[in-house]
Amino acid sequence: MNGALSALAPHSSKRISEYAQRHPGTIDLTVGLPSFGPPRSFGERLAVLSGSPGESARPEDRYAHSRGAIELRAAIAQVYRSEQGIDLDPDTQLLVTNGAAGALWIAVLTVTEPGDEVLLADPAYMIYPPMIELLGRRVVRVPTSAADGFALHVPDLRKHLTERSRVVLVNSPGNPTGRVTGGGELADLCTFASEHGLYVIHDEVLDRFAYGIEHRSVAALDHHGHGIAVNSLSKRFGVSGWRIGWMVGSPAVIAEAAKAHTFFMLAVSHAVQLAAAAALRDPEADGELSVHAAEIQRHGERFLADVAQLPGLGGTAFPDGGFYAFVDVGEFARLRGIHVEDSIGSAVAEYLLHECGVAVVPGSAFGRAGERFVRMSFAGGPGQLDRALERLAE
Ligand SMILES: Cc1ncc(COP(=O)(O)O)c(C=O)c1O
Repeated sequence: MNGALSALAPHSSKRISEYAQRHPGTIDLTVGLPSFGPPRSFGERLAVLSGSPGESARPEDRYAHSRGAIELRAAIAQVYRSEQGIDLDPDTQLLVTNGAAGALWIAVLTVTEPGDEVLLADPAYMIYPPMIELLGRRVVRVPTSAADGFALHVPDLRKHLTERSRVVLVNSPGNPTGRVTGGGELADLCTFASEHGLYVIHDEVLDRFAYGIEHRSVAALDHHGHGIAVNSLSKRFGVSGWRIGWMVGSPAVIAEAAKAHTFFMLAVSHAVQLAAAAALRDPEADGELSVHAAEIQRHGERFLADVAQLPGLGGTAFPDGGFYAFVDVGEFARLRGIHVEDSIGSAVAEYLLHECGVAVVPGSAFGRAGERFVRMSFAGGPGQLDRALERLAE
């Protein structure tokens, strides 16, 4: 057995979300997925593809191109043209992967060697550290603080540089913090990275959920061939089950990444890629997405303004992006006299689960800097948020 795997604890929000599933009355704010359904164009194309099987296999019944179906890569390139104003070569700068999670693995594997270090903000999305460690690379956490919105500052990164530093892994809009890295800041980060020979892997899965601050892709701002954008359709269309993701990078990076991807899984589901291409090219789906994002923002703003009225939760604010509120529950725990064993966030998450039937993720799941926090998703729709609020208020 793999000792590194055995040493890892299971996905830390899993226990709470499994509890929520076993207790049907629980209001589950752990899951960061919008409640809206997939674009109609996706289902229509998939229905055609899965329609009456013929005598012999069709192209879409066979392996897709290992870099991704050409139709999907062209559709993704078109998205970058219209949203970021850049021209990507779908043949050399794009790789379709099994979700953003697949792209992250391949990106880290491609630009690092065993023992190399990946600089990562604390707090950050929970799958990054185990992923990096399982690849035999080292995680170097760079603490950030709630006081300045969990910004990752270049001087702090500089303090953590060593001879083995190879990557800065950043996520914007951020899960769990909701922070959006502005264009100027991201450009500075790219300059810093290129000066030190680092790659910037930029996880952009929440790109269409930036409120007020414009989302910029690292693919548009990096001019040194060291930026790798990771993205997927999971959040954009609320379809985490499709497992369609991608990475954008320089031709040199993508050529190596494509090799890793081929050896790892040969290719991603061909039919789903073709249906995903139809959804990405569908202007109606894009319009619906903007409406959904605005709705999530409106409902989230109202929900969090009400949460902030509750005793001990006055510091709760609406984030710049994403659909998570990272709520400081230190004062709430003190007012309620909640016994803390492990971390304040874990104690409050247990309390909310058992006393209110509301499931949230303890902030410690994202790193030590998250210990006073819990993460609440506000993507689930107004009905769910109203019920959660009633219970919290009680
Ligand atoms: C920040 C972030 N990155 C990556 C992922 C994984 O995305 P995918 O479903 O495309 O693998 C998630 C899923 O929640 C996420 O929140």
